Amino acid sequence: MDISNKVAIVTGSGKGIGKETALVLAKHGADVVVADMDLEAAQSVAHEIEALGRKAIACQVNVAKKEDVDKMVEEAINTFGDLDILVNNAGITRDAMMHKMTEEQFDQVVQVHMKGTFLCMQAASLHMRKQKKGKIVNISSISAKVGNMGQVNYSGAKAAIVAMTKVAARESARYQINVNAIQPGFIDSDMTRAMPEEARQAAINGIPMQRPGQPKDIANAVLFLCSDYADYITGTVTEVTGGRHM
Ligand SMILES: NC(=O)c1ccc[n+]([C@@H]2O[C@H](COP(=O)([O-])OP(=O)(O)OC[C@H]3O[C@@H](n4cnc5c(N)ncnc54)[C@H](O)[C@@H]3O)[C@@H](O)[C@H]2O)c1
Repeated sequence: MDISNKVAIVTGSGKGIGKETALVLAKHGADVVVADMDLEAAQSVAHEIEALGRKAIACQVNVAKKEDVDKMVEEAINTFGDLDILVNNAGITRDAMMHKMTEEQFDQVVQVHMKGTFLCMQAASLHMRKQKKGKIVNISSISAKVGNMGQVNYSGAKAAIVAMTKVAARESARYQINVNAIQPGFIDSDMTRAMPEEARQAAINGIPMQRPGQPKDIANAVLFLCSDYADYITGTVTEVTGGRHM
């Protein structure tokens, strides 16, 4: 799958799913803005991409802050002259049962996932509309479909991302901008390694393919949705779960 000389921003690409996505896009020909709150992690991923022979810049960004997001998109265009792909992947969890969840835990998660995805789509699509092309992939979660216990903030924000994907897809289709969402299941990353071992095992036991997903499983789905092969696909939600919750 070829995305040669496309310019991509991947948020939250300092580690985990975002890092693997940035590397997979680069391996298939893209230059990448490695955007993360953690600048050191982003710089290290940018070096890995350069070692693959592609261009990369590290960008420190809090996706929940408009000025950071506008600067990130500006930097992408000033450095590479273009912006073809946006992957909204940055994410956090602040789990608690609903009766115990603080307002702060709720707000933090909604800010990063829901507001962050909105701000990044808005800034990127302003540019993509002018050039009449673009691919946006939003990372939702299967928790938006099933409603995980202890995640009223996260499941709610991830469901909002699905609705926002469809609005953006409708508004952007006439500009040849495709907007799609992916719902990962249980993926082996720091986010799920932070779960209690018993809960991790229970989650893995419920996967028909009998293994946790790897970041690469998500990155490959992102690659497809960012390629020309997906030119007529927009407003969709792809589950990448090893068959969980079918
Ligand atoms: N791991 C899973 O099982 C799973 C399942 C479904 C969905 N997801 C989603 O996939 C995405 C990536 O998850 P992961 O497992 O790789 O997580 P991770 O914790 O390994 O990595 C998340 C990255 O996002 C960055 N980040 C956090 N807040 C940010 C902000 N405000 N601005 C910019 N960067 C920020 C972090 O610094 C980190 O590098 C998230 O949106 C997550 O909700 C993960």
